[in-house]
Amino acid sequence: MAKTVKTIGVLTSGGDAPGMNAAIRAVVRTAINRGMKVKGIMRGYAGLLAEEIIDMKTTSVSEIINKGGTILYTARCMEFTTPEGQRKGAEICRKHGIDGMVVIGGDGSYRGAGKLSALGINTIGVPGTIDLDIACTDYTIGFDTAVNTAMQAIDKVRDTSTSHERCSIIEVMGRHAGYIALWCGIANGAEDILLPEKYDGNEQVLINHIIENRKIGKKHHIIINAEGIGHSTSMARRIEAATGIETRATILGYMQRGGGPTCKDRVYASIMGAKAVELLANGVSNRVIAYKNGEFTDFDIQEALAMQKDLPEDQYEISKLLTR
Ligand code: ADP
Ligand code: F6P
Repeated sequence: MAKTVKTIGVLTSGGDAPGMNAAIRAVVRTAINRGMKVKGIMRGYAGLLAEEIIDMKTTSVSEIINKGGTILYTARCMEFTTPEGQRKGAEICRKHGIDGMVVIGGDGSYRGAGKLSALGINTIGVPGTIDLDIACTDYTIGFDTAVNTAMQAIDKVRDTSTSHERCSIIEVMGRHAGYIALWCGIANGAEDILLPEKYDGNEQVLINHIIENRKIGKKHHIIINAEGIGHSTSMARRIEAATGIETRATILGYMQRGGGPTCKDRVYASIMGAKAVELLANGVSNRVIAYKNGEFTDFDIQEALAMQKDLPEDQYEISKLLTR
């Protein structure tokens, strides 16, 4: 029989992402308005093991929907990857009366959520990462804000790159995935887009492209390089030496992860947070919320973790046609 959840814990884990606060707000308000209690767990699984647990009211989440970061803070926690750490986490949940949990984070956080679920704490994952690298979902909280932030920054680099007639290599985040690079590459009209899923390391092709573009009168050459490839600074040195064209590297870094969330991130995160609570209210456990083929849905955690995600081939092909 479905277990009725009385008290929901909510935590954010892994890298923060703009929109996580909107998800926390939705969890808290949906749960309280459905007659449940909510406890906020600070600093992800690390805070759970340290019993950093606070009572949350509807007003605890006032004034946060527009804010980047996460009011619950976030952390990475090795101890929770061990069976002892997981058992301790489940025990602490029980001690605090937490019988349902919403974990907002990426794949790693889902693994922890699956463990909590197996130990009897009804647990639901919500996809929070700027990287868009969760296979079961076409949307992750924070991606939209991150690409918009990066796009605006790249536009600025482009201006000065044009004035100085330089080549610019701009490195964007994404861990092992190229989604942020692909989107920025298209949105910023980059001359080259280097994606970890596709790049073969052949710098001569880049060099030839830069030289050809100079011949047809292009004033700048923007290369969007994904973090998963990296080495932007040394790449810039080699390209400058080979082309004779001044080449600078800019690593956008953490600015991509901060800032107020876009409308899409606020709305989707709110819907996902609310849907996570709905599942818990219905006695469901071990699921992750997803947005797939235009609809909000949910998947079994282990099935979601086993899924593979490939960069959309059509989008990649289009991006290549637009850079030439
Ligand atoms: P993300 O959730 O963004 O993928 P991480 O991979 O860093 O970020 O995972 C966040 C946290 O989730 C880890 O610090 C750890 O506490 C927990 N976690 C990761 N993998 C596991 C696992 N196999 N079992 C239990 N917990 C895990
Ligand atoms: O997962 C989000 C992300 O920003 C990745 O793009 C990046 O590789 C990683 O987190 C950086 O993590 P940290 O905050 O530990 O440096």
